[in-house]
Amino acid sequence: MDIRELFTKGFGYPPEVVASAPGRVNLIGEHIDYSEGFVLPFAIDAVTKCAIAKRDDGKIRIISAQKKNEIIESNLEAIAAKEGSAWSRYIYGVIWAMEIDSGLDIYIDGKVPLGAGLSSSAALECSLATALNHLFHLEKTLPELARLTQRAENEYVGVPCGIMDQSISLMARAGYGLLLDCQDLSTRHIKIDFASRSLRLLIIDTQAHHALTDGGYAKRRESCEEVAKIFSIASLRQLSMESLLAHKTKLSDIQFKRAHHGVSEMLRVLDAVKALEAEDFEALGQLLNQSHNSLRDDYEVSCPELDLAVDTALRSGALGARMVGGGFGGSAIALINESDAGAVSLAIEKAFAKNGFKAPRFFDSLPSDGAKVIS
Ligand code: GLA
Repeated sequence: MDIRELFTKGFGYPPEVVASAPGRVNLIGEHIDYSEGFVLPFAIDAVTKCAIAKRDDGKIRIISAQKKNEIIESNLEAIAAKEGSAWSRYIYGVIWAMEIDSGLDIYIDGKVPLGAGLSSSAALECSLATALNHLFHLEKTLPELARLTQRAENEYVGVPCGIMDQSISLMARAGYGLLLDCQDLSTRHIKIDFASRSLRLLIIDTQAHHALTDGGYAKRRESCEEVAKIFSIASLRQLSMESLLAHKTKLSDIQFKRAHHGVSEMLRVLDAVKALEAEDFEALGQLLNQSHNSLRDDYEVSCPELDLAVDTALRSGALGARMVGGGFGGSAIALINESDAGAVSLAIEKAFAKNGFKAPRFFDSLPSDGAKVIS
């Protein structure tokens, strides 16, 4: 059923605004958004839709198609006090960060796979932010909406994420990756056309546990901030590889490894842009592999399922593969020849079964559009 009809069925009257926002895959540039680096994500075609209408009694009511259509009720005072549980906090956080002072009825229909590292949370936040921006004529720019939704997640939900997921969900363009400078949120759209070379980017959801709130993410972020402090710079963005290597003794082993990942990954993103512009997919594949090795060995955010997916894809002929997103589970990507798709996924399925891992899921998606008001 269409979301307008679902809203009408749930609340008994039609919505005022419907918006949608996509999940994402990050081609390259992992764990460097919070170090003010460059990242190169693209939006996938799976979106979260959000239909909303104003209420004049200060109540906030939410229905989710994925949560049995139950009505969850709160109010503006509870949101000002940062109350709320589980997934509803993502919604309350956006209302709080955008300083909305009206009651609302909200219907959510989320089609971005949950827990797969494809940013279903950013899709939820950005679909609501886009709808609110339109309904209340707030005229916020996309970078402003990105900062507000990130603030919702950092300060209301309590997840110390960077700015990448919200930015790509809001700013994506079909057919392009987004080169995002996380220092000032300036962007360049970079054409991604794997199909013209009979290539495909396979997304492998390992179905392994993925929880940024477990502390591993925050610890990585802290290490990067410690290194910046030691070098008296604002972030790793200001650190060159030469300087890092020359002053290695200033850092603990762990600090050096974390910084080495950050600084080398920023360089790889710029090289990946050059490779895409030159349509040199062999070079791009190598960069994906280097990124994975760095995340596995220096940053230590991979896990056995992700490593197995990557290694098996490479053994089955992929040009390159790597884990994506926060890590500790979630998805990997593999750049493969279209004709190998069946063989690669079968090999990964078999390897997972042999190792006693949960069966993986496979997706693929062309780079898709960012958030929009639908009606
Ligand atoms: C998560 C965070 C992002 C980013 C990635 C790692 O997806 O939400 O901000 O840090 O991890 O690149």
